[in-house]
Amino acid sequence: MEIAMRTRLQELLGIKYPIVQAPLAGSDNPELVAAACNAGVLGSFGAQYLTPDEIRKALARIRSLTDKPFAVNLFSQPRKQPPGDHQIAEESKRLSKYYAEFGISTPLADAVKTGIDPDAQFQAILEARVAVFSFTLGIPNPDQIKELKKASIILIGTATNVKEARALAAAQVDAITAQGSEAGGHRGTFAGEFEDSMIGLMALVPQVVDAVDIPVIAAGGIMDGRGIAAALALGAEGVQMGTAFLTVEECAVHQNYKLAVQNHDADDTTITDVFSGAPARGIKNKFIAENTGRHPLPFPFQNALTRPIRNAANKTGQIEYTNLWSGQAGRLARRVSTKELIGSLMSETKDVLNKLATDSA
Ligand SMILES: Cc1cc2nc3c(=O)[nH]c(=O)nc-3n(C[C@H](O)[C@H](O)[C@H](O)COP(=O)(O)O)c2cc1C
Repeated sequence: MEIAMRTRLQELLGIKYPIVQAPLAGSDNPELVAAACNAGVLGSFGAQYLTPDEIRKALARIRSLTDKPFAVNLFSQPRKQPPGDHQIAEESKRLSKYYAEFGISTPLADAVKTGIDPDAQFQAILEARVAVFSFTLGIPNPDQIKELKKASIILIGTATNVKEARALAAAQVDAITAQGSEAGGHRGTFAGEFEDSMIGLMALVPQVVDAVDIPVIAAGGIMDGRGIAAALALGAEGVQMGTAFLTVEECAVHQNYKLAVQNHDADDTTITDVFSGAPARGIKNKFIAENTGRHPLPFPFQNALTRPIRNAANKTGQIEYTNLWSGQAGRLARRVSTKELIGSLMSETKDVLNKLATDSA
């Protein structure tokens, strides 16, 4: 099962296989993260939408299920000026038909404006002394980086272009996730407009690898051993897979979401900001069709306004009204246990690498 090559990423993270289970904020759960860790990869927990107390509880649960290292992830965006009451009222009015449809009350403007305190989230993670802190959509401020380093926490940042990769390396991160345009979920872009950084993984990875001297993790559309072998060939020292973990047994998302991931074609996904106010890749549905072309509030304020709709829809599997984040290769997702998935991924990778070596001999 082992492939002969051992990468710096595996050494850095102390993992058996060069795979990271991507943080899936809102769609992951402690059981999934622990199962990934116990199967020999780095599990990651997406904490972006949780209060500090919820984060502490989730981390304790993960630790009760595994003694292996895992990552916790936040969006490292600078705090934004909240929209005015008038704008929030306008947008709530526009969404009122969905609130009515699900029998939920309109979120209070003050709660939308305040949101969850990102500094308190950060402190909860820092105090928990997690092994790895990963982040996207920016870089923690220098004081935060200093505190993380002092606590010996390994840092993994996300880049969608070479400029961002250089900025992350200069900020002393330990590894970089290069997120290709195929990827499911939010675009990690923080330098420039996201449209300019819709770079396919095949073009992005070797350029990032050449630009920095720390391990690069390839993310976006990787679903099997073919993708892992290709990423290694491009110079990546590991892969980060999100969509592939949505359909495993331990992932608690609704069955209908899992089926949608497996049954959509590569051209059925789109980049949309209608759910959160920030661009993300997901499967097209009724909510996207009905809201595209309007101007949502910026992230995280739009996210707070649509959250009760999405929560209600997620509970009952009404997938036309919730964000179905997925990468462009969802069709290759499998309904197996996490352990089985990782076993298959590694034996497939080995087979591909052996075949290439034999064919070219
Ligand atoms: C449901 C879902 C939620 C995600 N949430 C996060 C997140 O909270 N933080 C993050 O850094 N990346 C997040 N991502 C992006 C992944 O880190 C990664 O870039 C992506 O999953 C790779 O593409 P793939 O889905 O085709 O494997 C998410 C992706 C998905 C599918």
